Amino acid sequence: VSELVVHVDVPEQSYDVVVGTGLLELAGHRLREVSTARRVALITDSEVASLFGVRVSVALTGAGFDVVDISVPAGESSKSWPVAGSLLEELAKAGLGRTDLVVALGGGVVGDLAGFVAATYMRGIAFAQLPTTLLAMVDSSVGGKTGVDLQAGKNLAGAFKQPRLVLADTSTLTSLPGGEWRSGLAEVAKSAVIDGEEFLGWLEEHADDLTSREPSMVAEAVRRCVRFKSHVVSRDEKEEGPRECLNYGHTLGHAIEKVTGYGTVPHGAAVAEGMRFAARVAMATGAADADFVKRQDRLLSRLGLEPLDLRLQPALLLEAMRGDKKAREGAIRMVLPDAPGVWHCGPVDAAVIRAHLTAWSSTKEGER
Ligand SMILES: NC(=O)c1ccc[n+]([C@@H]2O[C@H](COP(=O)([O-])OP(=O)(O)OC[C@H]3O[C@@H](n4cnc5c(N)ncnc54)[C@H](O)[C@@H]3O)[C@@H](O)[C@H]2O)c1
Repeated sequence: VSELVVHVDVPEQSYDVVVGTGLLELAGHRLREVSTARRVALITDSEVASLFGVRVSVALTGAGFDVVDISVPAGESSKSWPVAGSLLEELAKAGLGRTDLVVALGGGVVGDLAGFVAATYMRGIAFAQLPTTLLAMVDSSVGGKTGVDLQAGKNLAGAFKQPRLVLADTSTLTSLPGGEWRSGLAEVAKSAVIDGEEFLGWLEEHADDLTSREPSMVAEAVRRCVRFKSHVVSRDEKEEGPRECLNYGHTLGHAIEKVTGYGTVPHGAAVAEGMRFAARVAMATGAADADFVKRQDRLLSRLGLEPLDLRLQPALLLEAMRGDKKAREGAIRMVLPDAPGVWHCGPVDAAVIRAHLTAWSSTKEGER
């Protein structure tokens, strides 16, 4: 697989996302090109540490960095205020200075956590990402959002922090469990539908290559997603406006995760269900046509994202959707697809949503 590079242009920090294989081994050398740091805090999780920790640590040391290895327990619970606080203390104890560097090695949890630590330590030191999950490569490592969860909810404390460099080594993805793989694929599908016909057509053509993790097609999917997200983000770095499209499928998706208890329904499965739902709401409110809804259904199923057979109370889902961050003055707002590449975000009448939720929760799998 040859190397693919996407240049992300945001006002405060432009950077490259490099997609390819063998990048972990080259990490020291590549980071040297963008950093004069003496010390590097290499932040990872327990799972990723055992898979790739030594390899990256050796690569960084080989490029003259003094490496401070830090590992947190794998899982969303590490993306917390107390863990961020203890990492900040560790950085101080290790003597990291203003010109030093924080490197995140892992999935979105580690990326969000380490990015937040880099954004706050000494009011901000340099940061780089080595994403090792498909979701982190196609979504969370691009765009500069970092943060931790609070008791009151996910991602409630954070900062915008752009990385100096992102190295997406796709050879790390072979060990990713199936559920995590599909979570990434849901974001790929979201990106393709919102980006437009060209990407969507490509994804339909290569859906089987992606479920079988064919290396060159995986790299191409990552490149397309990064390019898509970087276009969106460079037009709207700090949220609102065009960036809202990234929430496609997430209004109901998050509600499903919340109502069933986080971790019960995989994130990707919830987002895919949210996309199916949003397309149906879009059809009912006049924008999307039946062919589009069917086309998206077929694509999601081919990617292994089958319809969920969950009987959830519409009232609970509706309440959870009202708590969505896009909601304004109690009105639920959703990203609705009119057609591939054409979307709008606006308030949707609660009665319309309730009617759809009721139909959705009483329909068996396969009937939709
Ligand atoms: N900042 C953003 O813009 C943004 C966007 C989307 C999601 N997120 C955040 O990302 C997080 C989810 O990220 P995630 O799905 O990557 O989860 P994750 O970081 O928890 O990784 C999932 C699991 O896979 C393991 N893992 C990682 N790489 C592996 C590999 N190569 N082989 C085998 N196992 C591996 C991890 O140890 C973990 O157990 C959430 O907290 C979410 O809020 C952030």
